[in-house]
Amino acid sequence: MSLSELPKLELHLHLEGAAPPAFIRGLAKEKSVDLSGIFREDGSYAYRDFVHFLSVYEAATSVLKSPEDYARLVTAVLEESAAHGVVYCETFVSPDFCGGSDVGAWREYLHAMQDAADRAEAQHGIILRGIVTCIRHFGPEKAKASARCAAETAGDWITGFGIAGDEGQGKPRDFAYSFDMAREAGLRLTAHAGEWGGPQSVKDALDDLKVERIGHGVRAIEDLALVDRLAEDGITLEVCPGSNVTLGVYPKWDQHPIQKLRERGVKVTVSTDDPPFFHTTMTREYEELERAFGWGAADFHEISQTALAAAFCDEDTKAKIAKRLEDHPHE
Ligand code: ADE
Ligand code: ZN
Repeated sequence: MSLSELPKLELHLHLEGAAPPAFIRGLAKEKSVDLSGIFREDGSYAYRDFVHFLSVYEAATSVLKSPEDYARLVTAVLEESAAHGVVYCETFVSPDFCGGSDVGAWREYLHAMQDAADRAEAQHGIILRGIVTCIRHFGPEKAKASARCAAETAGDWITGFGIAGDEGQGKPRDFAYSFDMAREAGLRLTAHAGEWGGPQSVKDALDDLKVERIGHGVRAIEDLALVDRLAEDGITLEVCPGSNVTLGVYPKWDQHPIQKLRERGVKVTVSTDDPPFFHTTMTREYEELERAFGWGAADFHEISQTALAAAFCDEDTKAKIAKRLEDHPHE
């Protein structure tokens, strides 16, 4: 079995965080911006820890200045994802970075991204949908502007609303207004929690934001009553093991709780988060899961079915993806 060829679904991918470093260097050169400080000698992104990672991420993003730049980014990211067998992907996009959360500007960025995604689907068969994401450390007021952009463009392509950024700042309830606005617009909801925050951060996201998926959520393992609640309520975790190991949430793959969560009945899925930052790909995630926990074709098929059930896209799109999964042997 070739792990790179297995059809995969990815529910947790930050668009700017998926930008290959060479792509960002190229844009910086075109725009005469000096970004040399954010790269190591070998060309990869350089950061010391999670909070520094967020500032390097924002520096890299600063050279994405137009709808055309975002279209080029979508093309580059989907080409790479398709090469790793990804057939369906949901990406986080932040209106803060796309026209400063002005609804008119946001629409232009969105159309450019959608056009690029349509071209990639025609060329590589990969399907992309967007989740508008507010950034926790930018504060609740900016989040409201992002939620307004999300609500104005909710539909077939923008399927969800979420929150990323520094979990150390603010509380989920500070963002409840934005999540209510998104929910009323028909958007599905997810929130980063339980990556840096402990079990209480997961409970807060569930209770205060009423999300159906949690980005990461892995630290729920520290409270087995919460694990059982996740299982009973059918909450899906967007688990990004390679991200967690590279950022030091867990020291080694073998110590990552994905397997324990799954064994206790939690719906887990697998994603890369910000692949070039964490030196990973969907193939690498699968290789490490095979090595650390002995996962094989049947396990990966089950993970894909879980992701398909939790995907925010419409039923026709799900049927197309289901067909891609069934076309591949998994016994
Ligand atoms: N933004 C990009 N990657 C992130 C992560 N892993 N956690 C929180 N915010 C992020
Ligand atoms: Zn993330």
